[in-house]
This record gives sequence, structure tokens and C-alpha cells, in this order.
Amino acid sequence: MSSSIINVRQILLLFYIFNTIAYASDPKKPRARDLGIPFNGIPGKYNSIIDVPGVEVGFSTIIKGDSIRTGVTAIFPRGASKVLQNQPCFANWFSLNGNGEMTGIHWITESGFLTTPILITNTNSIGICHDSLFKWYLTRNVSTPMVNIFNVSLPVVAETYDGLLNDINGFHVKQEHVFEALDNSKGSDPIIPEGNVGGGTGMISFGFKAGTGTSSRFIENLNYTVGVLVQSNFGRKSQLIIAGVPVGEEILKIEKNNTMVPDKDMGSIIVIIATDAPLLPHQLKRLTHRASLGIGKLGGIGGDSSGDIFLAFSTVDISDKTSTTKTVEFLLNDEINPLFEATIQCVEEAIVNAMVAAETMIGHNGFKVDAISHETLIKILKKYNKLND
Ligand SMILES: *[C@@H]1O[C@H](CO)[C@@H](O)[C@H](O)[C@H]1NC(C)=O
Ligand SMILES: *[C@@H]1O[C@H](CO)[C@@H](O)[C@H](O)[C@H]1NC(C)=O
Ligand SMILES: *[C@@H]1O[C@H](CO)[C@@H](O)[C@H](O)[C@H]1NC(C)=O
Ligand SMILES: *[C@@H]1O[C@H](CO)[C@@H](O)[C@H](O)[C@H]1NC(C)=O
Repeated sequence: MSSSIINVRQILLLFYIFNTIAYASDPKKPRARDLGIPFNGIPGKYNSIIDVPGVEVGFSTIIKGDSIRTGVTAIFPRGASKVLQNQPCFANWFSLNGNGEMTGIHWITESGFLTTPILITNTNSIGICHDSLFKWYLTRNVSTPMVNIFNVSLPVVAETYDGLLNDINGFHVKQEHVFEALDNSKGSDPIIPEGNVGGGTGMISFGFKAGTGTSSRFIENLNYTVGVLVQSNFGRKSQLIIAGVPVGEEILKIEKNNTMVPDKDMGSIIVIIATDAPLLPHQLKRLTHRASLGIGKLGGIGGDSSGDIFLAFSTVDISDKTSTTKTVEFLLNDEINPLFEATIQCVEEAIVNAMVAAETMIGHNGFKVDAISHETLIKILKKYNKLND
């Protein structure tokens, strides 16, 4: 064994240790609640979409050189292994403002079924994610609806635009990144990183750095969980309201404008809602409508150039194929209000989590986007007596 190989190994080991330390320090990063921002409702164990049993999330974060700031997020509704066994979920979707893309939704409307993982990326990388998802199945030699000629399925891939911070026209998302996100999914691991990760890496909200965020609510008397993951990239600074406080206006009063972010209603938001409650597709559609109210609580208006597209699924197993009919259980409409409330609360908190976790980023052509200052946020909420101890 030559010493140069040992050196390379040592370097790789150091690199591994460094990454592990960096990763392990993630949970200490404060989330919105840790700053004392008040939110209603009881979160699940990790206040994350993975609190819904079976849901797994994987990321590929692509940060290279001066200009590449992008990535891919993968969500498995019922676990990476389950999807390989081809188990559909009831699902539905809603577009608050359709200046965006989410593929595969026509068949979801028609069938009520979601049969693939969900990928979220940048606007120009829908195609590579769509292609690579098929290839990922093929390389695993698993018979799934996606590769079976009798029951072809249609991948769900959604996007938001990261072209201010990322060299989006350089097409830097490659098949290997899609595979990385799909292969690295984590279920029981509580560490779901937020902010500048996965598809959310280069995203901006309310004039501040944002990206990926997550939150959950446990509905105790029904024993159901609602979990949300957002890729947040919308809103003007002046619109931002947190816990009922006009945080954006307050910040504009105390800070001189030194941001490069145009004061326009641009960008988009993708919201994925998961629940283990037995909901039928039309009931899941009702949940997706409520995501709009969570966005509204923060001051969002679903602006003209925004692609605000939401998808909800229920993880209840409906895959039994032993007969020509199937009996399903569903929650009575009378009982659904707590799930509406949970959805609204999760969307609101997930977006704030994305902003609180995000770090200031400099990217393509030196474009810089500041993260919201935790200190300033705390000061403003205190002024309005809205800060939890
Ligand atoms: C899939 O099948 C091909 C061709 O039979 C084989 O070369 C490859 O190793 C298999 N891949 C896996 C992950 O099993
Ligand atoms: C897909 O087609 C195969 C072969 O016809 C069949 O065995 C399998 O059950 C089908 N899967 C679904 C989800 O329809
Ligand atoms: C609550 O739901 C969880 C997850 O589905 C299940 O494991 C548990 O048994 C349920 N608890 C009760 C009291 O029904
Ligand atoms: C702040 O300045 C930038 C760069 O000049 C400009 O694009 C943006 O609209 C300004 N923002 C506000 C809130 O005035």
C-alpha cells in the first residue's frame, strides 16, 4: 500500500469527521420556537414532517464555487422501501397561483393516487429530476408501476426559482444529485435540516434568505399527526407578519435598505402536507386549500408571478389488491377541523423555520441575500409583547 493512498484516506477521514461534526451540530441550531416565537398547537416529537409515521425525506445540497447554489429534496410518503414495493397513497393538490410547476398532478386528480416519491428542485431542473426518478427505479431492478408497461406512473416533481443566487441556466442538478436525495432519505432520524438545504438551497422569502422548512402538529384526541414541508421562496419584506406582528414593516423602519433583493412579489412556494389520518382525496384537497391560510397569516398574497402549489397525501395503506373492491375508512367531515387548523399552523411555522434556519448566502454574480437577524426578530416581537419566555 503506497503512502499516497494512506494520505488520501486520511484526508477523506478528516473530511468525514468534519462533515459529521458539522451535521451533528445541526440540531443545536435554533428553530423558530427556540427563539421564543409563539405558535399555536402541539407539535409532534420532532416538529417535522417525519413525525407522520413512515414519511422519509432526503436532500442533495449543491453548493460549488461562486455560482452554484441549488439542490434536490425527495419525500417518500410511505418510506423508501415501501415506495419500491409500489404502495399508493390517497392524495390531492391545489394551486393558489399557477405560475409554477408540479408534474404528475393530472393523474392524481383522476385516480386519487400518489404512487411516486415527490421531488422538489429549481425551476430549470424539473426535467432531470423527472428522468432520473425513472432511472433510479430501473437501476434498482424493482418492478414498480413506473417501469411496468401495464401501469406506468407519473413522477411528481415541483419547483421554485433560485436564479438570483444560483446559476440556474448552467443546469447544475445532475442525475447523481437526484439519486443522492433519493438514497439519503431519513425517517426515524430527527435531524431534518432546514434553511439552505436540498431544493431550498438558493431560495428567498420576504426579502430574506429562506429555503426548506418543516413543522408538525399532533392532534391528541384523534391520535393523528399532520406534517408539512415547504420550499419557501415568496413574499415582499414589507408584507412579513410573524405571530401577528408586522415584522417586515418594523425591520424596514429600523434598518436602512442595503439588500440586493428586488422589492417585488416574486418567487413561489411548494407545500407538501402529510397526515396519517384516513382522508379521502376530496378531503385531502380541503387540506391543501388551508395551506393558503397559513401563507396568508404571514402576509403572503399569492402574487401574480408566484407558483404556489400544494399537495397533500394520507399515509394510510390502501394497497390491498385481493379483490375487485376495497373498503376504506375515512374521517367524518365533522371531525376534520382540527386537521385544517393543524395544516394552517404547520405551514406558518414551517416557513418561519425555513427563514430562521437559513444563513446569509452569496451566490451567482455576487448576489447576496441576508438571513433575518434573530436578534432583531426577538427585539421586534418583544416590543409587541409577543415573545415567549
Ligand atoms: C440490475 O440488473 C443489472 C442487469 O441484470 C445488473 O447489472 C445490476 O447489477 C442490477 N442492479 C442492482 C442494484 O441489483
Ligand atoms: C402493475 O402491473 C403488474 C403486471 O401487470 C401487476 O402485477 C401489478 O399488480 C400492477 N401494479 C399496480 C399498482 O397496478
Ligand atoms: C396512535 O397512533 C400511533 C401511530 O399510528 C399508534 O402506534 C398508536 O397505537 C395509536 N395510539 C392509540 C392510543 O390509538
Ligand atoms: C432595496 O434596494 C434594492 C436594490 O437597490 C431594491 O431592488 C429594492 O427594491 C429595495 N427594497 C425596498 C424595500 O425598498
